[in-house]
Amino acid sequence: METLKIGFIGAGFISKFQVRAMTQLNNAEVTGVYALAGAEELQAYAQEHGVGECTVYGSIKELCEHSDAVALYIPNFARIEVMEEIVDAVKGGAELKGVICEKPLARTVEEANRLVELAKEAGLATSYHENQIYMKSIHNALNQLSPVQKAMGPMALARSSEEHAGPHEPWFWDPTRQGGGVLADMGCHSIAVSWFVLTPYGKPVDFLQPVSVSADISLLKWGSPANRQKLLDRTGVDYSKTPAEDFCTGIVTFKNPETSQLVKGQFTNSWMYDKQGLRLLMEGLGPGYTFEVNTLRSPLEVFIGDEAAEAVADAESALEKATASRGLLAVQPNEADLYGYVDETKATAEAFLAGKEPLLNWDFGLEITKLIQASYMAAERGVTIDLTDAKVQKELKTFRSLVSQGKGGELFYK
Ligand SMILES: NC(=O)c1ccc[n+]([C@@H]2O[C@H](COP(=O)([O-])OP(=O)(O)OC[C@H]3O[C@@H](n4cnc5c(N)ncnc54)[C@H](O)[C@@H]3O)[C@@H](O)[C@H]2O)c1
Repeated sequence: METLKIGFIGAGFISKFQVRAMTQLNNAEVTGVYALAGAEELQAYAQEHGVGECTVYGSIKELCEHSDAVALYIPNFARIEVMEEIVDAVKGGAELKGVICEKPLARTVEEANRLVELAKEAGLATSYHENQIYMKSIHNALNQLSPVQKAMGPMALARSSEEHAGPHEPWFWDPTRQGGGVLADMGCHSIAVSWFVLTPYGKPVDFLQPVSVSADISLLKWGSPANRQKLLDRTGVDYSKTPAEDFCTGIVTFKNPETSQLVKGQFTNSWMYDKQGLRLLMEGLGPGYTFEVNTLRSPLEVFIGDEAAEAVADAESALEKATASRGLLAVQPNEADLYGYVDETKATAEAFLAGKEPLLNWDFGLEITKLIQASYMAAERGVTIDLTDAKVQKELKTFRSLVSQGKGGELFYK
């Protein structure tokens, strides 16, 4: 079988998760890596997992020259400079078929527009890696409900949340580098999933038109003096000066352009969820039917008593963002598949090898960026944002949230 030779840019958390996902694929391999740190470690990890040579390259140009596609598995603040180098490499003769970008596409609408523009300039197909839309459980639910939906009508309400106790690397906590707090980091997942779930079966991902957004952002845990100190000691980020929200919730209203029906996507995200580890919770409610996904429910439970706990070296082997290594642990044996990483790379490889774009491209990523920024706008101003207003759309093009400017204190420490 033909495989897509993917060059990884970045060798951190998501790169490793993607390697684990690729052990379950036969149409993609990690051909190389370029990263500011961790490249050799990723190479060893990829080779050990049998997913490719993962040659370490000293420049983006060289990586592009030896890859069919490159993946931006780098922090949010590095997207533009890296993409500019990719475009230069393509103009210099690198024959790339496409480029992948992890969620969120960008920190602002301005940056997202620039990324879309750069990909077009280089003639590259794009893939937006929003893994949760590719989750098998979501696709199973929608397939199974499709005849019911046809008879009864589409879903009217989707609820989606992603919560854990907080990110692993310092840059995620710094709103000026990451682009915000939990809304920018994880709201993008939940808003995208709700939009997808609400879309009438068989229609394109952007069929429903977003018409308004209301939202709340709050600092519920990490703003207290004791927790600020903990965070400062752990990450170097000072939430007494540049706080970001650790909780957000909101509603995006969508309009069906054929029937004018309004449907609602409700999102909730937090970095203050002190349970076993990461939980994704998704629900879809239609007339006479519902579905629910809860990733903390697993058929596998493991119990480790206090006496035995000393022997457990790596708590994250149970679950992403695991918080405990003893007691009754929820264990997910195949997280890379559960969260959709396997299917997103499979779909991207199939599409790029066929000279196409997969289900989600960067234009979709741009639309999600707009909804995130409109949510910040709604929360800061305490109003519902009307997305059908041309003035709002114009303002969103250059909007930068107070949180992302390091001015979150004006909202959280009034
Ligand atoms: N889909 C998901 O659920 C999910 C999960 C985690 C992270 N992500 C996304 O993946 C991206 C990366 O996150 P991460 O957790 O892997 O971060 P990380 O900090 O763990 O790793 C980042 C890697 O990028 C490298 N890097 C930084 N700047 C670079 C540059 N200019 N050029 C080349 N390499 C550079 C670092 O050296 C490191 O190897 C983020 O955008 C994040 O939002 C998505």
